[in-house]
Amino acid sequence: METLDAPAELSRLDAQVRLVRPLELDFLERAGLRRHHHLLDLGCGPGFFAVWAAQDLLPLGQVTGVDADPALLDIATAHAATVGARVTFRQGTAARIPLPDAAVDFAYARFLFQHLDAPADALAEMRRVTRPGGTIALVDTDDGGLVVHPAPRGLPALLRASRDAQAARGGDREVGRKLKALLHAAGLESPTARSYSFSSEDVGGAAFVAITLGFKAQVLGPPWIDPAEVASVVDELQTLRDSPGFFGQALGIGAWARVPDAR
Ligand SMILES: C[S@@+](CC[C@H](N)C(=O)[O-])C[C@H]1O[C@@H](n2cnc3c(N)ncnc32)[C@H](O)[C@@H]1O
Repeated sequence: METLDAPAELSRLDAQVRLVRPLELDFLERAGLRRHHHLLDLGCGPGFFAVWAAQDLLPLGQVTGVDADPALLDIATAHAATVGARVTFRQGTAARIPLPDAAVDFAYARFLFQHLDAPADALAEMRRVTRPGGTIALVDTDDGGLVVHPAPRGLPALLRASRDAQAARGGDREVGRKLKALLHAAGLESPTARSYSFSSEDVGGAAFVAITLGFKAQVLGPPWIDPAEVASVVDELQTLRDSPGFFGQALGIGAWARVPDAR
């Protein structure tokens, strides 16, 4: 697992949370989040979503954020304290969530499953901590839905390197399309998926490139790709993103299912 404490990555995650807010509201409403729910935010990172959810979505509920990285949890705790949000952060992993059985109504993981080498075990653990009749919801990326035009010549090589580097760590840059199947395989009821896209028309070319491709370019290097190739893609993108015909679109896929009632 890589640590995500670089300031650039923090501002990317913050921008991503703000950008997808209307889409995420639609998703959470369809998945059945209610104002009084106790929500688990697994892989909460610096807590931007958790704090927003506690403040705006769950006036009668609460949020527990769990992440493996203590440095990110410190940032999350400090931010929650300044805004007085009803949210608790705890260190833990997807394999061992520090909550008792049936503790939450709604277990949510955003952009976590792309990192996991044992997603079925994570779902079993999310199921353990969710009450019967509760909801498990996942949102993640799928690079198969990323389109950019005009694109730098080296972009396919950069995307391949990103996919291979993630796979070598046990993750999956195309996990979005698999979320519904994972929920079904976990024995959860009525798995449902919905796709959400956003484009450079929504945020402008520069922000689109920073949010969707900036992180890849920052972390990729040998043995996956020659740094000179990365630098050339970044240079080209900086010109192309400001050209009048530039268009980029990225895909997020959300899926949710119910924990069966106890018999
Ligand atoms: C891409 S970030 C997403 C952060 C946050 N959910 C968001 O949407 O802004 C992935 C997060 O998952 C955490 N993470 C990765 N593997 C984990 C694991 N096995 N258990 C718990 N957290 C994990 C990382 O520390 C990081 O904070």
